[in-house]
Amino acid sequence: MSEKFYVTTPIYYVNDRPHIGHAYTTVLGDVLARSHRSFSEPTFFLTGTDEHGQKVQQAAEKRGVDPLTHCDETVVRFQELWQKLGITNDYFIRTTQENHKKIVAKIMQDLYDRDEIYKADYTGWYCVGCERFFTEKDLVDGKCPDCGRDVNAITESNYFFRMSKYQQWLIDYIQTHPDFILPAFRANETLGFLKKPLADLCISRPKSRLSWGIELPFDPDYVCYVWFDALINYISGVGYGSDDEKFNAWWPASCHLIGKDILTTHSVYWPTMLKAIGLPMPKTIFAHGWWLTGNSKMSKSLGNVVNPMDMIERAGVDAFRYFLLAEMSPGNDANFSEDAFIARYNSDLANDLGNLLSRVSKLTIRATGGEIPAPGELNADDKELADAVVSAIEIMEASLNTYKLDQGINAALNAVRAGNRYLEKCAPWTLAKNGDTARLNTVLHNAADALCRVAVLLAPVMPGKMAELLAVLGADKANISGIADLKNLSSVAGFTMQETAPLFPRIIVEEPAAEKAPAPKAEKKAKAEKTPAKTDAVPENVVVTIDEFFKTQLKTAKVLSAEKVEGADKLLKLSIEVGSETRQLVAGVAQFYTPAEIVGKTIVIVANLKPAKIRGIESQGMLLAAKNGDTLKLVTIDGDMPSGISIG
Ligand code: MSP
Repeated sequence: MSEKFYVTTPIYYVNDRPHIGHAYTTVLGDVLARSHRSFSEPTFFLTGTDEHGQKVQQAAEKRGVDPLTHCDETVVRFQELWQKLGITNDYFIRTTQENHKKIVAKIMQDLYDRDEIYKADYTGWYCVGCERFFTEKDLVDGKCPDCGRDVNAITESNYFFRMSKYQQWLIDYIQTHPDFILPAFRANETLGFLKKPLADLCISRPKSRLSWGIELPFDPDYVCYVWFDALINYISGVGYGSDDEKFNAWWPASCHLIGKDILTTHSVYWPTMLKAIGLPMPKTIFAHGWWLTGNSKMSKSLGNVVNPMDMIERAGVDAFRYFLLAEMSPGNDANFSEDAFIARYNSDLANDLGNLLSRVSKLTIRATGGEIPAPGELNADDKELADAVVSAIEIMEASLNTYKLDQGINAALNAVRAGNRYLEKCAPWTLAKNGDTARLNTVLHNAADALCRVAVLLAPVMPGKMAELLAVLGADKANISGIADLKNLSSVAGFTMQETAPLFPRIIVEEPAAEKAPAPKAEKKAKAEKTPAKTDAVPENVVVTIDEFFKTQLKTAKVLSAEKVEGADKLLKLSIEVGSETRQLVAGVAQFYTPAEIVGKTIVIVANLKPAKIRGIESQGMLLAAKNGDTLKLVTIDGDMPSGISIG
């Protein structure tokens, strides 16, 4: 960790409706800020909105309101979403604020006085959508190289920033500062761009064409180009020109988080502007990839945006934050689909993390009434679990410096999975049955200890849920607010475990209505004739790899109770024990087994099957059976075996 951490997000166009692309950058910034604060590192997190420019002016005109009123009304969408998402920004900057406008004007005047800005005629191609001018050679098939839309030729007098004179300096700077633009391939992309001669940057717009902007202090017929205005937020937001003490405390920024779409503005325009102003460079500009739906970038103009509010409704704020960060490896693009969201939620959070917590809490309360026992002598299994946790802590800490938080999260989840495997291997339920209290205490302690440390690692990502988890472990009173404190936590022995409802209730996917509704008789028959029997559906010669096979988790389960499903003569509703967990399963075996015959059997189930509703009843898994014509026999275990044991 360093002396201070100052992180920024891009300032979002106030006109837009926030979507998961915006949410991603902001949550990433928030997790970094929370993590650095947890190391007691002075931290400043800045986000905000970009409120000038043609699009805002046009939208306001369309609504018949003045642009500032339009901004005041639309900025709320971002502010409310950030509040909902638990974003802990230290300041929210709006480029229409008086202080920001004053600083932009001051910088422009200073640069003009020092001949860094000059006036000249300019002919260019303008893209209204992107609010950018392009030269003839920038265009792709005569269209905007960024969005592919039509561009208009415009000749006018304008003011220019002498960006070209910094070209060689910038190349040298990038080459000698490997952390300046990350990931490294983005630095190469910028260097590639800098192979062509760099033009000066047009930083004004005549008011006759655009009035909604910051007026040039040396020519009232012009306003400032929106990007030149917007980039300055990173310094005006921390007191540049207004509060020297504050500014000196935070600048240079530790990290500007951006999407890859705004790499050039941040890695070429901004550094050269800073150089001309006379300020040091930010330490890192980190460009993440895009969220795609299908194969296209999510954007308002393409109409394929995912509204974060819908996802939050579905699974809660923390699960949404988790998904965004776990799913995207930040250098690359990621694809958003609701199925992927639900699959990850159910497997990582409901199955792995939620189950580990409920198992540990149930077993401990059953064994000791709640107090986490002190561990005894440690063996190789204990060591393996402890190693997985130590490695998760190391990887998480490293990922804070590389900005690849998905790696830290993945390591934390690996430790959770190691915890579940540990329980299965050590079988504390059997130790309890056999009265082996010494070993039982060790196992319960170590599983709770692993959970506690993982919860602290994941707390910046899921602050609410991890606080709940730590409270269930009785660790909330232990003053552990981050990785740094974990190093001083010798043991969780003595904490008092609470009972808990599932921390991440499974998301049940309703079968599509068409599949649920009984088909008309004739159609049903036709379907029955066409559809091969289930056992014939996979051709005999399909070969699966061992890895493919092991994606299916087969486990032993004990049938605790069974009843017929009303109105469905083929179905039994079973309550089954899978280790320390109780599940409900609906099976089409009622014509072959009575409830009394099936209760008490140790059967084999597919434990990680996506839950489904059958006749409106949730089924959490599938049992295995062999069917031959009119006969069906359950797959059972040959001999005595506890439930919850993995088969493979
Ligand atoms: N206003 C400018 C930024 C000025 S910063 C000085 C802008 N705004 S924006 O609202 O269009 O987009 C800002 C950022 O939102 C992107 O760079 C990126 O960080 C994020 N995203 C917007 N769409 C995105 C995706 N589909 N996927 C991931 N992030 C993207 O550009």
